[in-house]
Amino acid sequence: MKIVMLGAPGAGKGTQAKMIADKYQIPHISTGDIFRANIKDGTELGKEAKSYMDKGQLVPDELTVKILLDRVAKDDCKNGYVLDGFPRTIPQAEVLEEALNNLQDKIDYAVNVEVPDENIVRRMGGRRACLSCGATYHIEHIPPKTEGICDRCEKELVLRDDDKPETVQKRLDVYHEQTQPLIDFYNKRGVLKEVDGTVDMKEVFAAIVNILG
Ligand code: AP5
Ligand code: MG
Repeated sequence: MKIVMLGAPGAGKGTQAKMIADKYQIPHISTGDIFRANIKDGTELGKEAKSYMDKGQLVPDELTVKILLDRVAKDDCKNGYVLDGFPRTIPQAEVLEEALNNLQDKIDYAVNVEVPDENIVRRMGGRRACLSCGATYHIEHIPPKTEGICDRCEKELVLRDDDKPETVQKRLDVYHEQTQPLIDFYNKRGVLKEVDGTVDMKEVFAAIVNILG
């Protein structure tokens, strides 16, 4: 099963993608997590990505597409995957579609997690992320068992650099301009599924499981 998660920054794509990956035993692939791991390790890729991410801009398609195609070619992706944060532009979606076409394959579901902009800005300030395993928490809604420590890998949790209010607004603007058109792209291919992302994360997940079966 090949799934694409769509939705604004902070809609809960990562939260849901992790739960999907656990239940269906497929890898969770987040381009944002890959970039953040590279920033943490101080790689060249990380340095380049950071210069865009901190401003709330997208990392250029050429760079992002290559990383993603390399990742989905790995052995663990044979039975499918859940993509979180990719594609984010029409050109990215077209490259992915072409790569899958060449393998007589396609995306099975594009799940759009819908959350209005007002809710997003409130959510971001409370998010805490683990840069080690990619888990996310919320200080009010989804707190870790021990404050500031990741439940999964026991590393320290941080506030992401791009979660400052002014950067969040910029990310929302970029989302509406460049990523929202993907809803129509996948709708035309008959694979779009919409879920309400404003309810409790367990309810969002139940709606997704209902769709995926
Ligand atoms: P990325 O890491 O993908 O960030 P994003 O799309 O902005 O999305 P987020 O990770 O912020 O949100 P999310 O939807 O995963 O929400 P989460 O589950 O954490 O990308 C970061 C940057 O990298 C981009 O800005 C760009 O520069 C670059 N980049 C990445 N991919 C790229 C690409 N393909 N092309 C170009 N550039 C790329 O949830 C948010 C918060 O809400 C958490 O605190 C969570 O605990 C809480 N929460 C979740 N669900 C609920 C709920 N139901 N109720 C209440 N709270 C909830
Ligand atoms: Mg995320």
